[in-house]
Parts: sequence; structure tokens; C-alpha cells
Amino acid sequence: MRMYDVIEKKRDGEELSKEEIRFFINGYTNGDIPDYQVSALMMAVYFQDMTEAERAELTTAMVESGDQIDLSAISGIKVDKHSTGGVGDTTTLILAPLVASVGVPVAKMSGRGLGHTGGTIDKLESVPGFHVGISSDEFVDLVNTNKAAVVGQTGNLTPADKKLYSLRDVTATVNSIPLIASSIMSKKIASGADAIVLDVKTGAGAFMKQYDEAKELAEAMVSIGNRVGRNTMAVISDMSQPLGKAIGNALEVKEAIDTLKGNGPEDLTELCLTLGSQMVLLANKADSLDEARTLLSNNLNNGKAFNQFKLFLESQGGDSSVADNPESLPQAAYKIDLKAKYSGTVSEMVADDIGTAAMMLGAGRATKESKIDLAVGIVLHKKIGDTVTEGNPLLTIYSNQENVEDVKEKLHASITVSEDTVERPQLIYDTVTK
Ligand code: URA
Ligand code: CA
Repeated sequence: MRMYDVIEKKRDGEELSKEEIRFFINGYTNGDIPDYQVSALMMAVYFQDMTEAERAELTTAMVESGDQIDLSAISGIKVDKHSTGGVGDTTTLILAPLVASVGVPVAKMSGRGLGHTGGTIDKLESVPGFHVGISSDEFVDLVNTNKAAVVGQTGNLTPADKKLYSLRDVTATVNSIPLIASSIMSKKIASGADAIVLDVKTGAGAFMKQYDEAKELAEAMVSIGNRVGRNTMAVISDMSQPLGKAIGNALEVKEAIDTLKGNGPEDLTELCLTLGSQMVLLANKADSLDEARTLLSNNLNNGKAFNQFKLFLESQGGDSSVADNPESLPQAAYKIDLKAKYSGTVSEMVADDIGTAAMMLGAGRATKESKIDLAVGIVLHKKIGDTVTEGNPLLTIYSNQENVEDVKEKLHASITVSEDTVERPQLIYDTVTK
């Protein structure tokens, strides 16, 4: 087989066979096929698209390019959740103990990653003593006995995706539905879950800014998941403004604690109940979505979800008294209000820019080497559709530096207060199932 012929075939809009897809993924991973030929193929895919069968084959080839996590020693149906990313998305911290509290095993592998705030592991490490340095045997034992555990990324997962993604990044081929869908799904499938709930975000703070694109990506990922034998569904949710109120590591841990006690922000609670019910249903722990939702919302109100969170912290060395006394989490030296310049209704809160402001305070990493400040971030007091009076706080900045003029400027530019009445944005747009 020659790479030239594979490129030509895709260039002319034909469907690649399983063997052709294996050939280029294996050849590229082991260095036999050069970047310039794979670049040409990626550009051909960008223009010619891929069939559902090709997308599933591409995903499987990427999964098999490296290690795969074996979760078979954990009893029950392991359901994972994946979000395409947004600002202030605290759902993982809440969903892990919440669905575990109704008996769904949660075996979470998480990264630190780059972004507006740290990843799930950074957030959890703001709890004194909490650590993810556990062996795979301990990980399995913890999930079997306590239903939930988080471990840091180990092994060489999907090396083909790492190489392809770096190449796409410099050849203007990131923005292609079949390539994005196979990239995301390959990582999820290699992580070993039996079933997958996807939270595909749309709006100003999302990777997919337009609803139609988000829907297309959701359908592509659901098709891939089900074709490769993992029960997969997607929820399309709003990311035009940050989710919940807190953006920042320790601030989001506190927000998760409030939510697990039944006192969380309305939108964050609703999204967790929506995603959580789908997870419970896929795990066969309820017969209907309504039943699943009732189980979950009962546990938010009767203390079971909160106690599950404490158990989860303790089982990985964390000081669970933090859950009762969130003031013992890392605290910022300065709390500075951002005051509204006008009276009216909040009509815009550009999630991306608010995330950037949190990063300027030190909440996120710009490069893999950056150190993050767990204490800093932003707490919103107003969201789109809320009325505000001139001089009253829109939000509070939590900072370890006294001078935050540049951050204030960024935040003022990202928030619009209008004289008109403004509707609250819809939170859940759609669900996609096979
Ligand atoms: N995120 C991924 O993991 N892969 C893509 O291709 C795009 C976004
Ligand atoms: Ca939040």
C-alpha cells in the first residue's frame, strides 16, 4: 500500500477502507509516513469529510495506537462523562460523588491540562492531603469499595491522536468534524468506560460557538461511540456565559460542596441533574430518566451525595473536614468587587473573556510549566437576565495581588448591561442518542 494512493483516494472524495485507515495511522505513529503526506490527507479529509464507518475506523485505529485502560476488574457498568470544555465547569467534581451515591461506579482518569482554571485534579488538590498518586490496583479497589476514585493520567494513551493533533494545529485542519470527533472519542474509549455521556457546549465560551456545529459534533461522537460498542449519548448545553458562579480552583471546590448540599447555583445544579440522570440510566441503576433524576435530587437534599464526597476525599488522603469548613481551603489575600457602571439588565457575559480574566489572576495555566494559584478566581453575583443597579457588584475578584486594574478592564469589556429586558439563555438545548 502507498500513502500517495490513500491521499489521492480521499482527495477524490472516495471512502477509505479499514486497511487504508490502519495503514496511515500505524505508519504515522511509528514514523514511517512523513508529516507532509499526513498533512495532505488531513486537508483532503477537511474538504471531503468522512463517512460514519470511516470515522469509527479512524477512532479505533487511534485507540489501538497505544495503551488502553482495562477497567474490567471493577464491577458494574462504568460510565464516564466528557465535556468539550467551558468556563467555570465544576460538573465533574459534583457528578463523581453524586452518581456514585446511587451506586454508579466512577473510575475517573483526569489530567491537569491547560485552560482558564486547573483541571479536576488541580481543583481536588486544593483539599489538604488529597492525592492521585495511587497504583492501578488501589484505584480498582477504591472504586469497588467506595464507588468513586480519581487517578492521574498514566500510560501512553492514543499516541496517534497526540501526533495528529499537533500536526492539525499547524496545518489549519483542527476545525473538521470527523477529525475532532475521532480525536475526542479515541481518548474516551482508550480510558476504558463501558458507556459515555458527552456534554457538548455551545456559545461564546465553547469550542463550537454555533449551535448547528455543536449538534453536528454531538451526532458524530454519538455515532462513533455506538459503532465501537460503547453506549454513548450527548447533551448540548449552553456556554454563552460561565456555568455556575465560581471560576477558579478552590472557589469551584466550594461551589461543588454547596451544590452537593443542595445549595448550588440553579444552572449548575440543573446541568448536573441532567447529565447525572443520563449516566444513571446508562449504568442501569434506574428504569427511566425521571426515576434517575429523582434518585439524584433526593441525594442532594438528604446528605448522601455530600457524605459520598467526604468519603471520596478521605479515601484518597484528603482532609474531609474541609467539606464542613470550606474556609479552610486556600484563600486569596484580596477580595475586590467589580461594580456596575450602569443600571439595567445583564445582556452579555462573554464566557471566554471571563475565563481569560481568571487566568490573568493566576487560576489557569498558559503553558504546561506554569504554576497555578489555587486560591484566586472570580465569583459572579449576576448572570445574563439579572437586573443590576449602578455601583452594585457584578462580581467579586479573588486575588493575591492588590492591583487588578487590567483584570477589571478585561471584565468590564466582557460584560454588557442593557436598558432592554433580556431573557435568561436556555441551559439545555438538545439531547442526541443513537
Ligand atoms: N479537542 C480534542 O481533543 N481534539 C480535537 O481535535 C479538538 C478538540
Ligand atoms: Ca462554576
